[in-house]
Amino acid sequence: MSLVVENLTIDHGAIRAIDNVSFTVPTGQLAAVIGANGAGKTTLLRTLSGLKESKSGSATWNGKSILGARPEDLARSGIMHVSDGKSVIAELTVKENLALAGLWRKDKKDVAAVTSEVVDLFPVLGQRMSQASGSLSGGERQMLAIGRTLIARPKLLLLDEPSLGLAPLIIEQIFQTIKSLVAKMNLTVVLVEQNAMGALKIADEGIVLNLGSVVAVDSAQTLLNDPAVRAAYLGF
Ligand SMILES: Nc1ncnc2c1ncn2[C@@H]1O[C@H](COP(=O)(O)OP(=O)(O)O)[C@@H](O)[C@H]1O
Ligand SMILES: [Mg+2]
Repeated sequence: MSLVVENLTIDHGAIRAIDNVSFTVPTGQLAAVIGANGAGKTTLLRTLSGLKESKSGSATWNGKSILGARPEDLARSGIMHVSDGKSVIAELTVKENLALAGLWRKDKKDVAAVTSEVVDLFPVLGQRMSQASGSLSGGERQMLAIGRTLIARPKLLLLDEPSLGLAPLIIEQIFQTIKSLVAKMNLTVVLVEQNAMGALKIADEGIVLNLGSVVAVDSAQTLLNDPAVRAAYLGF
């Protein structure tokens, strides 16, 4: 049971964004894919969630190919993507955003159960239930973007730069919540980040991307402690 990416190559026209990338994330683990702006992180996630075509290579989730599948079929098989835009419906309240996320699910009892789990994970959402989502702070919006995705009870969660544009204290909170999610919601997570230090601190495995290529892959702890990797790619 795992996500297996093998020799994956993805182009944007003449630009090679992901070049022969391979890595494995065992079920129940949190993998951090780190790299600077332009490294190919968003392109990789968009391809894994069916939004972008690949050029060559393979990606499987629990043995089944996911490349080229429709995003809605991937969602039904438990693969969910939180894009880097903290995407929520600004005009709707927090409560309505959460309700909308569960609208398509048949098991209404479980929708109610998972909604209260989400509010337990992000207590601030509980305090803002009737507030318009557009008036939330950046951190609260990010929590809602992740929270509404969890209503689907995903198995594989793809997170695109949840720390982007947030204050350090909020980043710390969001990272800690992401870490606790893995066990609490029985998830496997691919966390894509420029914030290498913060992401590696909570991750099991680390994959360092540079200009579309994997330049290091190891346990997150080993990468954090490797002076050469730190100096060359992590910037601390
Ligand atoms: N829609 C697009 N059309 C053309 N080039 C793109 C497109 N999206 C991304 N790129 C290019 O692909 C490379 C990787 O981008 P991206 O995946 O967004 O990186 P990251 O998320 O790590 O910042 C960059 O060189 C970027 O300019
Ligand atoms: Mg990106």
